[in-house]
Amino acid sequence: MSVILLATEKPFAADAVNKIRNVVAESTHTLQLLESYTDKQQLLDAVAQADALIVRSDKVDADVIAAGKKLQIIVRAGAGYDNIDVAAATEKNVCVMNTPGQNANAVAELVFGFMIYQSRKQFSGSSGTELRGKKLGVVGFGNIGKLVAQIGKAMGMEVCAYDKFIEAHVMQEKGIKPLATIEDVFEECHYISLHIPAVSDTKGSVDFHLLKTMRKNAMLINTARQEVVNEDDIARIMEERSDISFVSDFMPKSDKLLDESMRKRWFAPVKKMGAQTEEANVNAGIAAAKQIIRFFDSGDRTFQLN
Ligand code: 3PG
Repeated sequence: MSVILLATEKPFAADAVNKIRNVVAESTHTLQLLESYTDKQQLLDAVAQADALIVRSDKVDADVIAAGKKLQIIVRAGAGYDNIDVAAATEKNVCVMNTPGQNANAVAELVFGFMIYQSRKQFSGSSGTELRGKKLGVVGFGNIGKLVAQIGKAMGMEVCAYDKFIEAHVMQEKGIKPLATIEDVFEECHYISLHIPAVSDTKGSVDFHLLKTMRKNAMLINTARQEVVNEDDIARIMEERSDISFVSDFMPKSDKLLDESMRKRWFAPVKKMGAQTEEANVNAGIAAAKQIIRFFDSGDRTFQLN
């Protein structure tokens, strides 16, 4: 019998927690909860008793992994695992998994919520613009990118995509125009939606060089990771060009962007909310619990990342 710790600084919806509890209750394992914790020490104390750990964007660094003396598996209930020190886990022979695709729809829907909100002048009552007939560029054609492309088509947009790891025919089969470079996306599209992970190649990659090529009245949408966009460069291009707008799932850190004069041309929620739906929480939470149970009961390592 193993102890599964669900540690979430930003808690799952109550329904998701109940469903995770039920899944674990039907197994031979037990669930422990550490929700809405405010101090790293609380996580360090709780993980000491755990054989398995489920987290969201919670930081699982080398200290946490070292404190988890019995830990055999960490599952990031979500897609991006840049919050987990995978190298430290590998060193301690701890398996790391994510739950790809489980919260993708929540993020994809939010992209359109953001696009409409900003295109309609933040619901101020001023005359805005529509999405139909506009060109949407999807950067990163993974689970979320594919859904964004599909919804964009349903809204009558002309959809293009760029992903250096995906062959052109995969996009063409879905009626999406493949673009050869990220520069092409920035030059051609009215709406540019980012769906790339934060890795060394992508961090800061959306910089002034790319931004200055944006077509007239273009909007950048970032629901991926804050670090992939150089926010000072966004502020700089928005100072130089009054036609550019920016919506992000991350409250900007750049003082220039936060200046009141810029406020009508960008939007971000107070807290990252891409995957913050009941459905996404249920899907990702249950997937994480089931992956752990299968790992202990049958040695299944599907979705292992290390
Ligand atoms: C993910 O990578 O799955 C999303 O960014 C969701 O993150 P969250 O669980 O912190 O909401």
